[in-house]
Amino acid sequence: MNANREVTIVEVGPRDGLQNEANLIDTAVKMQWIQQLKKAGFKEMELTSFVSPKWVPQMKDASEIVQICQSNDSRDLVLVPNEKGVNRALEEGCTHLAFFVGVSNGFNEKNINKTTAESMSALSPLIRSLKASGIYIRACISTAFYCPYEGKIHSDDVLRLCEQFVSLGVDDLSVADTIGMANPEEVYHLFSKLHTNFQKDTLLTAHFHDTRGMAVANVYAALQAGITRFDSSAGGLGGCPFAPGATGNVATEDIVFMLQSMGIQTNIDLPILYEALDYISPYLSRPIQSKTYQLYKLGTKQKSI
Ligand code: HMG
Ligand code: MG
Repeated sequence: MNANREVTIVEVGPRDGLQNEANLIDTAVKMQWIQQLKKAGFKEMELTSFVSPKWVPQMKDASEIVQICQSNDSRDLVLVPNEKGVNRALEEGCTHLAFFVGVSNGFNEKNINKTTAESMSALSPLIRSLKASGIYIRACISTAFYCPYEGKIHSDDVLRLCEQFVSLGVDDLSVADTIGMANPEEVYHLFSKLHTNFQKDTLLTAHFHDTRGMAVANVYAALQAGITRFDSSAGGLGGCPFAPGATGNVATEDIVFMLQSMGIQTNIDLPILYEALDYISPYLSRPIQSKTYQLYKLGTKQKSI
């Protein structure tokens, strides 16, 4: 068993979790939720994304969100798809940017209207200059296992795209099973290769969606491959509007529970996280379905009987 006794959870609920939510959530509600999540202990969080509001209306309040929610004691990340997104983020004083590119052209074209190569040509000079100005850069690598339009992805293609980002000096590579189709063996193999190739150059993060119920097992498989950083969304919310069939991210509370029960530190306070879920739940179009949250609700009811 991997001997690492501490992992970092990057909370992506306010961005990945909400971007596909059918109800338009009030900005003030999002802000309150982010503050509650921070209270639960998250030191890294994707707050929002500076994408086109025509493409993702839920993220149209990105500027207001960062004006209120950015703080110096946490790594507050915002997604940016292009130069316009970068400029909007920099105007608000953001210092931690996340770019996102799909390994497959099919997904990348649907998501950002460019082939993967076109994205890299446009983003490379931007990233170089941002790094020269001391900006923290995360690269989110989508469709690292399967693409909803092209099927299975070859690991060599993932390694090649990661290599390009690493050569630009990015600080973190977040590698994603966008449509939740990878199994733990595939996860172990790819993350072992990523760990061997890039661990010395950059942080490495695993990002799982739970479409087929394999995401918690995939966290364990990636942990065995040496990965100690995981993206997850409180409540298991989320999904990409441009990846048909992609449901929510792995639920933060489910992996925190698993890791803590194995004696692995996450520095997340589960009861405070549950309170944050109690807060956001009435605003959502669907009930929160994570296993540990449902058990918590059952326990609350039993206590009140
Ligand atoms: P486009 O239509 O090709 O853009 O979209 P364009 O450059 O032709 O510009 C068209 C209009 O959009 C112009 O306005 C621009 O100013 C405006 P108009 O002249 O028509 O009034 N525009 C913008 N407005 C605000 N912010 C911007 C911006 N850029 C252009 N940044 C674009 C290209 C990239 C903008 C669009 O495709 C887009 O916004 N895509 C974002 C899609 C998205 O947010 N997907 C979800 C995030 S990725 C994800 O979830 C995966 C991840 O979780 C990992 C995983 O699980 O795989 C990270
Ligand atoms: Mg995602």
